[in-house]
Amino acid sequence: MKKVLVAGGAGFIGSHVVNELRKRKIEVRVLDNFVGGNQNLGYFDDGVEVIEGDTCRKEDCKKALEGCDTVFNLAAHAAEGQSVFIPVFNAQTNLIGSVTLLAETINAGIRDVVFTSSIATYGKQKKMPIKETAPLNVEDPYAITKKAFEDYLRVYHELGQIDPYIVRFFNVYGPRQRMDDPYRGVVPIFINKCLKKENPVIFGDGLQKRAFTYISDVVEPICGIVGNKKLVNNPINIGTEKVYTVKKLAEEIIKKMDPEMKIEFIPKRTSDVKIAYCDTGKAKKLLKYRAKVSLSDGLDKTIEWAKGLGAQEFRYFDYTEIPKLTHGAYTSKKI
Ligand SMILES: NC(=O)c1ccc[n+]([C@@H]2O[C@H](COP(=O)([O-])OP(=O)(O)OC[C@H]3O[C@@H](n4cnc5c(N)ncnc54)[C@H](O)[C@@H]3O)[C@@H](O)[C@H]2O)c1
Repeated sequence: MKKVLVAGGAGFIGSHVVNELRKRKIEVRVLDNFVGGNQNLGYFDDGVEVIEGDTCRKEDCKKALEGCDTVFNLAAHAAEGQSVFIPVFNAQTNLIGSVTLLAETINAGIRDVVFTSSIATYGKQKKMPIKETAPLNVEDPYAITKKAFEDYLRVYHELGQIDPYIVRFFNVYGPRQRMDDPYRGVVPIFINKCLKKENPVIFGDGLQKRAFTYISDVVEPICGIVGNKKLVNNPINIGTEKVYTVKKLAEEIIKKMDPEMKIEFIPKRTSDVKIAYCDTGKAKKLLKYRAKVSLSDGLDKTIEWAKGLGAQEFRYFDYTEIPKLTHGAYTSKKI
């Protein structure tokens, strides 16, 4: 790996990937359309080349790929629940964009492709923790596109064109994750609520369990994955195995930020998966993976960063492609 294209490199995880690759003395080029903002460019050193462009546009991909030997594809509209209301936009960004970038990657003769897939591909499962061999019971358009693009990668690998590395992340959090997005990222939402002196809101009883993974615990392993022959075309779960309820998470954040705050419970979202966490045995074996950062330490670092930025106004998304489909949780603007 000498020169890497990071698509979506201006985003939360992407910008940390850029920093980690630079730490490893790798040349980096970023392709991003800045729909998520350009605020993270300030974290890059002068050696990072940034191209403003869209993965859906062949010419942008072509230009961005020139001279690269590896592609990290993180560009996405990563909003699972919201994707139900914007299936066309979701398919365009997450699937057409990824496929366009893939086609140009193959045309450029680049073999190594890292793709950030998601625990969302598993959908509802009976057995926990979820192993990579579990059936992919996708339940929303976001997960459909993640699964479909995994299949594209497999097919072009079988056609002898690429060596894909597919990582399935869980709930990643940490500095630089947008705090003004009310639709995803329960950690930054709760932190922002406390900064705004508003009570954190929980859908349902708060006993939903998640494996909240600190950013460095996903970035370090994916930056070291390329070249690991056993992981070519072999999807892998990456994240912590420590699981907390959403209620416990809210309590921790309140304790650390403002003990005056109280959790507000509102009716549950029908789409919420009750328990979702993964087995990381494969990552332990093949990547010597171990999540290192505890929830308490990760929250301390994230809260410190968030306080530096200050409270943010939530940006509600009024655009819907299916107005007749309503759902209290997404239309109430309660968060
Ligand atoms: N955050 C999580 O917990 C999590 C969990 C599982 C998987 N993932 C995946 O990891 C990746 C990064 O997620 P994130 O949380 O950093 O999201 P993010 O929204 O912070 O970053 C995505 C970036 O992609 C850019 N982008 C979107 N569409 C684009 C397009 N068509 N062309 C070019 N750039 C485009 C955005 O401007 C943004 O900078 C995504 O693929 C996401 O699906 C994230």
